[in-house]
Order: sequence, then C-alpha cells, then structure tokens
Amino acid sequence: MASAAALRLPAGGGFVYDPAAMALRRILKFPAPELKKNAPELGEIDGQVDELLRDMADTMYAAPGVGLAAPQIGVPARAITIDVDHENPGKQLLRLINPVIVERDGTVLWEEACLSVVDFAAEVRRSAKVLVKAWTLDQQEVAIEADGLLAIALQHEIDHLDGKLFIDRVSALKRDSYKRRIRKMIRDGVSLDELPSRPAI
Ligand code: NI
Repeated sequence: MASAAALRLPAGGGFVYDPAAMALRRILKFPAPELKKNAPELGEIDGQVDELLRDMADTMYAAPGVGLAAPQIGVPARAITIDVDHENPGKQLLRLINPVIVERDGTVLWEEACLSVVDFAAEVRRSAKVLVKAWTLDQQEVAIEADGLLAIALQHEIDHLDGKLFIDRVSALKRDSYKRRIRKMIRDGVSLDELPSRPAI
C-alpha cells in the first residue's frame, strides 16, 4: 500500500483554519450513552453536513485532537474529521462522510487515547494498514490508503461511528478498573469536562 503522503484526495477541500471564527461543540465523555450507539449513514451531502464537519474540525483543533467523530459531539451521523499534521492545521485535514474500511493488512500495537475517554491511554491492537472508502463534501468518492498514525486514527474514528471506544479493545481488567475510576470521579462530583485531556485521537 502507498503511504499516507500518496493520498489522492482534494486537499483541505476549501477548509480555512481560522481560530478567530471557530464554532466549538461540547465533546461528550464516557459514559455518555450517545457514544455507544451505531450511527446511521448520511443520505445526503448538503449545507448541514458542511457545517457539521466545519464545527467538528474546529472542535478537534481546539481540543486538541488528531481526530473526531460526529457521535462524540452528540450527532448520530457517519462523519469524521482527522488531521495528523497539527503543525499546519487545515492542510492535511480529512473530512470524511460514510467512511468504510474495505481492506486491512498486518497488525500493530499503538498507544491510544481519546477526547471522549478522559485521563486514560492504553495500547490497542489495530491493523497496520487500511484502505478506506468514503465521500467528501464535494460529492467525490475517495479511496485512502493509510499506514502509521493515519491508519490508527481512521480505525479509531470509524469505531466511534459503530458505538465503540478504544477501551472496548483493551483487556477486561484494564477496562473495568477504568470504569470504576470514572464512576468514583462522578460520585465525587468531579466534572469530566474539566479534566485535562491528553492529545488524543
Ligand atoms: Ni476517540
């Protein structure tokens, strides 16, 4: 498979990163029930989808995060944003609609974190390379061959669309101890929104 740099994609797709004009949405945190739902496909690519993806990109950069999926801001739709190059926000931004993994190759262990899973990181076994098909805002069907961080981010975000978090892919022991820790924080009145989030996928 070709590297991420060899993507045939319309770059940025007209997105201009302007920190002064950002529309930020609240990122839901585990155990919010919306994060466990399977999101339906988008049937139409219209102005609403454009606005959704713009807000998602703004919210992702501000977090900061490498990727964001619509269910994380409470919108049940198969839409994701990813940018693995935060040095140049907007330049390599992917805004993908109805993404599907059509091929996988190899396996890799990668330490992941998530904007919706506060204060936790763990190694997850993922496919080393993926081929993803998706639609862009200008109604183009694109194929993305990815490895490295981009391959991880694509798998992580598409998991969100299926109602799955990376903690669902770690050992039951680690997951249960994390859940206990979060439940205790909630009991103790800690606001999950105010916890520092790690740079996360
Ligand atoms: Ni995530």
